[in-house]
Amino acid sequence: MHLPDLNVAKDRTSKENVYLDLNENYQKVFKDKKYFLRTYGCQMNVHDSEAIRSYLEALGFTNTEKVEEANVVVLNTCAIRENARDKVVGFLGKCHYLKKNRDDFKIVLAGCMSEQPDFIESILAKHKYIDIVIGTHNIHELPKLLLENFSKQTIEVYSNSDEIIEGMHYERDSKYTAWVNIMYGCDKFCTYCIVPYTRGRERSRKLESIIKEVEELKDKGYLEVTLLGQNVNAYGQDIGESFSHLLECVAKTGIKRVRFVTSHPWNFTDGMLEVISKYDNIMPYIHLPLQSGSDKILKRMNRRYTKEEYLTLFRKMKKMIPNVAITTDIIVGFPGETKEDFEDTLDVVKTCEFDGAYTFIFSPRVGTPAALMEDKTPLKEKEERLQELNTLVNYYSNKSNQKLLGKTVEVLVLGDSEKDESKVYGYTDTMKLVNVSGPKDIIGKIVSVKITDAKSFSLDGEYVKEKIEA
Ligand code: SAH
Ligand code: SF4
Ligand code: F3S
Repeated sequence: MHLPDLNVAKDRTSKENVYLDLNENYQKVFKDKKYFLRTYGCQMNVHDSEAIRSYLEALGFTNTEKVEEANVVVLNTCAIRENARDKVVGFLGKCHYLKKNRDDFKIVLAGCMSEQPDFIESILAKHKYIDIVIGTHNIHELPKLLLENFSKQTIEVYSNSDEIIEGMHYERDSKYTAWVNIMYGCDKFCTYCIVPYTRGRERSRKLESIIKEVEELKDKGYLEVTLLGQNVNAYGQDIGESFSHLLECVAKTGIKRVRFVTSHPWNFTDGMLEVISKYDNIMPYIHLPLQSGSDKILKRMNRRYTKEEYLTLFRKMKKMIPNVAITTDIIVGFPGETKEDFEDTLDVVKTCEFDGAYTFIFSPRVGTPAALMEDKTPLKEKEERLQELNTLVNYYSNKSNQKLLGKTVEVLVLGDSEKDESKVYGYTDTMKLVNVSGPKDIIGKIVSVKITDAKSFSLDGEYVKEKIEA
């Protein structure tokens, strides 16, 4: 078994994805078999699932939404907080039960949990019914591992490598909006975070390959791409490129909407802001995780900025990009967080009036420095802080939504509304969710919508007209 060795710097290579050449041989083995795929994590994890789906379908598997019908169950796991892990462990129990008395029921554990040595060890000791453990680095090896497993019935464990595979295929969830990975991994080592351990070092894809992918998506009719990276704006540092240059090249392809997540405040440059303000097709929306408003806690988190530096960047963004919407991530109850530290966080929220925020209680992750820090605050108090924070955050997201009441905004309509089947839903340029009353044939178009109601988490609107190109 090969577990990730974080201390060894590997020479990175990049190679082309070759699975399509192997299709015919593989399809003989997997014809008439069904797969069930469940995704647990962030956008990166969702996008990895699009690659997994593409492999499975190219191999001849068909999708099923019923786990008991499946021949292969793939759990694309997340390890960011304990509750993410709990969900997976719960579902594994169900899979174990289904697997009894069946030899054509394979369980594949993919994603970030597969990259955690402590978890792998416990799996190999306790959960012997898992057939394949595949990490985040080697999804392209899934066909080989499946073929071996179906014929040999052995447990296959992933091998970790820092290679970049170009030309990956994705069975994308949407026909209009697409994730595009531009870099992998994270080098920031925030002291609470498991990602640098599960995703490895920062590795950037080649600029030309990214542009080719965007051009191809545009030709297929995609209207929007979201450039993806754990630290999307650290792109290029390992290959002599820069995020602002890439962003400009992507904007110049002429694709209608360009987005990017997640930006780290430490890597945000004026050059990026200039590019964003120069191109109309780069959306005025930035997700800028704050994590804490206390300098003491920020330092203990290894976030590399102070409260004041964050606020300075925030103000610059508001000044340089008209109508920009800014959302954030905040952790409460980090070890050593006092009431005063928490007040500092509330203070930043009041100053910034974020359009939205994802808030979390600190969850210790085995192997990270913060898991070893002394933590005296009782859980009950952390829960109270979270509640107080959420009340404030919701107040401001509601306030920012109210500002749109009566205005006409552009919405990319993506599908039927989950809330009300007679409506459709989509997103504004500032990434606000709108449920729209209007004809179904506006799905897949950018249209003008008049906002008729505003809540904390969504807007309601009426279709006005199709976007007229300038
Ligand atoms: N790369 C992104 C996202 C990382 S994970 C970034 O740097 O912002 C998404 C969010 O999960 C983080 O921003 C953080 O707020 C939260 N998070 C990460 N580790 C956590 C932990 N151990 N406990 C609680 N929240 C955590
Ligand atoms: Fe985790 Fe920090 Fe990297 Fe984000 S920047 S993925 S929070 S280590
Ligand atoms: Fe989870 Fe891995 Fe994403 S830990 S948040 S799936 S990078």
